[in-house]
Amino acid sequence: MAAQNGRLVVVGAGAVGSSTAYAALIRGSAREVVLYDIDAPKVEAEVLDLAHGTQFTGSSGITGGTDISLAAGADVVVITAGAKQRPGQTRLELAGTNARILESLMPSLLEQAPDAVYILVTNPCDVLTVVAQRIAGLPAGRVFASGTVLDTARLRWMVGERAGVSRSSVHAYIVGEHGDTEFPLWTGATIGGVPLRDWTAADGTRPFTPETLDDLARGVASAAYRVIQGKGATNYAIGLSAARIVEAVLGREDAVLPVSTVLAGQFGIEGVALSLPSVVGAGGVRRVLDIPMDDGELARLAHSAEALRTSAQSLGY
Ligand code: 2OP
Repeated sequence: MAAQNGRLVVVGAGAVGSSTAYAALIRGSAREVVLYDIDAPKVEAEVLDLAHGTQFTGSSGITGGTDISLAAGADVVVITAGAKQRPGQTRLELAGTNARILESLMPSLLEQAPDAVYILVTNPCDVLTVVAQRIAGLPAGRVFASGTVLDTARLRWMVGERAGVSRSSVHAYIVGEHGDTEFPLWTGATIGGVPLRDWTAADGTRPFTPETLDDLARGVASAAYRVIQGKGATNYAIGLSAARIVEAVLGREDAVLPVSTVLAGQFGIEGVALSLPSVVGAGGVRRVLDIPMDDGELARLAHSAEALRTSAQSLGY
């Protein structure tokens, strides 16, 4: 398996950071994968465990440790460091704690890796993108969050299961906050080119009724709560999502992914980061798409933006 060129630095060797490194190694998302954390025994153990498996992962290599200079020369930095949700806790409730961590981390990362693309995974990732982008003073496309790439994958999996088709043939997005105010864009959602609401099962029935669509939306929004309740964290799917985004950047793919960038007037929203389908390639987010929405969806987007603005403002951003 040929790995993408490029140096990926993953900040934070917790469940999410280690899973991101693992996914990046297996997928060949970068040539060099580096794991950084301030906890020496933890990061050294994770790096060793990952390194022991590299005979089976292709040509990427893994290194890591506690020295921030490991971030030097990074092409992409994925930030996963911070407190995680406890069962029942919302992502926005982590804002204060994780913003303070980011405020102390960003300046030293920028010193080491001034030319990197920064991808925020730590929650609340939309709010922290605003914090990181303000600290960095970089163009919005260089500092963005994994956003609803994961929620969109959850939606496509659920829709695919109901329709009995591969999730890769489902085209639908979750947009807005990566959190409680997120919502699906049913306008424009298709399976193999068939509008979702018109999808007809083999027996002639139409499974995607308004009730089913509401169920799916609720299922996606509550998915992380359910996983956290059972195992204390989510890690595999977010690790895979982060690795996928890294590939789009390092592979100069110009792939459309619903990442979260600080908006500059799109949909009437300014200074708030939230997810919309965006073109991701060399240098990060190259364009946010002007995707069609009906009036209800536009209202939900505005509501999501307001929740995020309130959270960022409470932190002084
Ligand atoms: C997730 O959605 C908790 O944000 C994390 O899996």
